[in-house]
Amino acid sequence: MADAAARRKARLLPWGRVPACHNGPVTRASLEKQPHEVASMFDGVAERYDLTNDVLSLGQDRRWRREVARAVDARPAQKVLDLAAGTATSSLPFTRAGAYVVPCDFSIGMLQVGKRRHAWLPFTAGDATRLPFRDDTFDAVTISFGLRNVHDTDAALREMHRVTRPGGRVVICEFSHPTWAPFRTVYTEYLMRALPPVARAVSSNPDAYVYLAESIRSWPDQEALAARLSDAGWTKVAWRNLSGGIVALHRGFKA
Ligand SMILES: C[S@@+](CC[C@H](N)C(=O)[O-])C[C@H]1O[C@@H](n2cnc3c(N)ncnc32)[C@H](O)[C@@H]1O
Repeated sequence: MADAAARRKARLLPWGRVPACHNGPVTRASLEKQPHEVASMFDGVAERYDLTNDVLSLGQDRRWRREVARAVDARPAQKVLDLAAGTATSSLPFTRAGAYVVPCDFSIGMLQVGKRRHAWLPFTAGDATRLPFRDDTFDAVTISFGLRNVHDTDAALREMHRVTRPGGRVVICEFSHPTWAPFRTVYTEYLMRALPPVARAVSSNPDAYVYLAESIRSWPDQEALAARLSDAGWTKVAWRNLSGGIVALHRGFKA
């Protein structure tokens, strides 16, 4: 019965209207990070994503992006892959350095907002765990605030390694764990208590920011992530804490 009703309702949809998925739009992903839920969640926040970032990080995100640019050290004519690029705000510093930058993401909503704002960039739809690029293509591969959302972290680290040329580098910018214990406690309180109410005021999808807080808490610490980079084949792996470890930059090279 319910099935027949659903089929009748589907037939009544006007031409051209495609439901986001058969259960309706996803407001937040679970910590299992099912790819369709993650992509759909980012589709839902795409329009106000950059503004919300600025507000929730109290403007710190701009400083973090400057540090990523320094670590990537992009040069004119180099090829840089910005993975999980979203609207490509994270890609812009490398274009300013004169590099050829490919922003890649699997949320069509984020890519569309990015394309509207930065039409000249070669936005590419692709999943971090099955990248649509040949081996040894890029001088540098970088991912900002994306790796934590990928359902298979190790597969993504191996794919990033595959598409980087020998001698090339990876730079990962991700939320991490504050190193000073008292600060870590305050921060965790801020995250779990203040983030959702603030997000309710500025974001189109506050639930996505509950996911943000939970996914940061369950993310590996600096040392554990470095070990996973080494396991994926990266050499000379090192990391640097930003804002006391709220964010960490991990760097590695392809031998
Ligand atoms: C928090 S946003 C970061 C966007 C941008 N890098 C920035 O710094 O503003 C995370 C992005 O990761 C993307 N993402 C998550 N899992 C992915 C996957 N498996 N493949 C490609 N993109 C993915 C999402 O679609 C989303 O756009």
